Amino acid sequence: MSKNNDSMKKTLTVAFLLCLVCSVIVSGAAVSLKPLQERNQEHDRRSNILIAAGLIQPREATFERVNAEFEKIQVKVVDLRTGELTDAISPEEYDQLRAAADPATSDTLASDPAGIRRLERYGLVYIVGDLENPDRIIIPVRGSGLWSTLYGFLALEGDGNTIAGLGFYQHAETPGLGGEVDNANWKAQWPGKQVFAAGSMQPRLGLSRNPSAEHEVDTLAGATLTARGVTNLLQFWTGDQGYGRFLAQFRQGV
Ligand SMILES: Cc1cc2nc3c(=O)[nH]c(=O)nc-3n(C[C@H](O)[C@H](O)[C@H](O)COP(=O)(O)O)c2cc1C
Repeated sequence: MSKNNDSMKKTLTVAFLLCLVCSVIVSGAAVSLKPLQERNQEHDRRSNILIAAGLIQPREATFERVNAEFEKIQVKVVDLRTGELTDAISPEEYDQLRAAADPATSDTLASDPAGIRRLERYGLVYIVGDLENPDRIIIPVRGSGLWSTLYGFLALEGDGNTIAGLGFYQHAETPGLGGEVDNANWKAQWPGKQVFAAGSMQPRLGLSRNPSAEHEVDTLAGATLTARGVTNLLQFWTGDQGYGRFLAQFRQGV
């Protein structure tokens, strides 16, 4: 090796060129993979909604099946303050979680049982079937567990009261403890439970050591704090501050 190749200048030039080539490769990959990433994220979101609604099983969540099932769903925006649907915001453009983090589109909560701190003014809702007389109504839910915020979807029958399914797609609770919210046997207890007692606007659904047949499911063993969080978040999103006013229009005698 010639002495020349050991010079500081050459070493720095080689290091610089190597960095340049690597950064071009990495940014090129990031840019070219972005559409694929977005497609996968959208597929994931759609799968979670359909699985929570009980419209597909997790093993059936292929691109074709998910897209075909999602065709049957109308995505709408609800003004959470009035419970009315609105066309003022395009559901395709609306990012509910981003809206919740932005002080221009959300408000701090005086009473915050779900531990979410800020509440967005508008919420997405996924309707299966007719808008006036739906087969299923699916709402996003979120709230604090012990270690993390749990994000999921709650699916109701068209009566705005009977639960069709519940599924969380993101959380960091401990596997085997709070993480049992993902256990298929536990989730299977939800369909058929009623959110509200007849004529009441107060949600009654939740987790309990002695679950009532009508409204509650078994608590999560060894995970009292996650269980309390799940009860609180479900009651919050089906209650007055969440989608309660919207759901009331589908219920009889409210
Ligand atoms: C490593 C570790 C992980 C835990 N993960 C959870 C959890 O995910 N959710 C939860 O509610 N409690 C969890 N706990 C237990 C809580 O610290 C607390 O003891 C428990 O919620 C008390 O309720 P219990 O009466 O159900 O035991 C965990 C504890 C340990 C040591």
